[in-house]
Order: sequence, then structure tokens, then C-alpha cells
Amino acid sequence: MRRLIAASAALAAWAGGAWADPPLSPDQIIAARQAGFALMGGAFGPLKGAAGSGQDLKPLAESAKAIAAWAALVPSLFPAGTETGRDTRAKPEIWSDRAGFERDAEALGTAAKALAVLAEANDGKGFAAQFEVAAKACGDCHKAYRVKRQ
Ligand code: HEC
Repeated sequence: MRRLIAASAALAAWAGGAWADPPLSPDQIIAARQAGFALMGGAFGPLKGAAGSGQDLKPLAESAKAIAAWAALVPSLFPAGTETGRDTRAKPEIWSDRAGFERDAEALGTAAKALAVLAEANDGKGFAAQFEVAAKACGDCHKAYRVKRQ
């Protein structure tokens, strides 16, 4: 998870200047965000069912925090110029309804932060319920802003 956070920080560093003088090509930006989403999916999956297993939930707070850090970065990984290319599944609505896209990213951030707090408190019941809230945040954004696989 620390590696994911470090990667996120590096992405944030270049995303800040991506509009003026992109240090990465659009295809590289698309590849970076897809890899980030894949990593995040890998971190998120194991949280499901963890609450019911009786395991110590505290270590899972790191994953939840990393997901929140990633969510805060997501909008910056969709700069103008990356609407198409490299088999991106980004829908045009990301750029035509930017506010909605940012709201969905924020919803995941809020949900993941709450998940981290519940993990730290070892609140299994709360954690299980909150996992569903976070999963809905993934689904809501995918429904509105990600093209379905053919
Ligand atoms: C704010 C919107 C948004 C949220 C929230 C979001 N996603 Fe995504 N996700 C996308 C978009 C858009 C793509 C397609 C990116 C592309 O192809 O350029 C994507 C792609 C993916 C991919 C495919 C990556 C690949 O290999 O190409 C996975 C896996 C994924 N998301 C998992 C998740 C999970 C798990 C969550 C919740 C914990 C989540 N996403 C939350 C918008 C979102």
C-alpha cells in the first residue's frame, strides 16, 4: 500500500503540470490511470468479507487510506487530451460533466476515509456496511463515466 501511495504522489506531481507541458504522452497518462485503478481494485477486493472473518481489521486501514488518497487524485488523471487513445474506457461525460465526475471521486474518498476509521476501531459490523457504501461509489462512477466492456 505504501508503494501505491508513493506512486500516487508521483502521479500528482506530474499531473499538476500536465496541461501546460505534458511530461507524459496521453497514452502514458491513460496507462498510468488504468494501472492505478487496477492496483486499487486489488486493494479493495480483499476488504470484502474481511469483517465477517473475525480478523484484526486494523491493518486494513492502510488500504482504505490509500484508496482515499487515490480517489483524491482521480480527476487530475483525466486531463484534456486523454479522451481517446490506448483503449481507454473513459466516457466523454468525464469532460462534459466534470463536476459530476469530481463529485463521484469525492464520494469514494469520503467513503474510504470512513472505512479507515472503522478499521482502526475494529468495528466489524460498521466496516461491512461501509464497504458496501464504498463499493456503490465505485459502481456509481463506472455506470456514469466508464464504457462497458464490449
Ligand atoms: C470517479 C470515478 C470512478 C470511481 C469513483 C472509481 N472508478 Fe474505476 N474507473 C473509472 C474510469 C473512468 C475507468 C476507465 C479508465 C480508462 O480506461 O482510462 C475505471 C477503470 C477501473 C478499472 C479497470 C482498470 C484497467 O485495468 O483498465 C478497475 C479495476 C476499476 N476502475 C476499479 C475501481 C474500484 C474497485 C473502485 C472503487 C473502490 C473504482 N474503480 C472507483 C472511474 C472510477
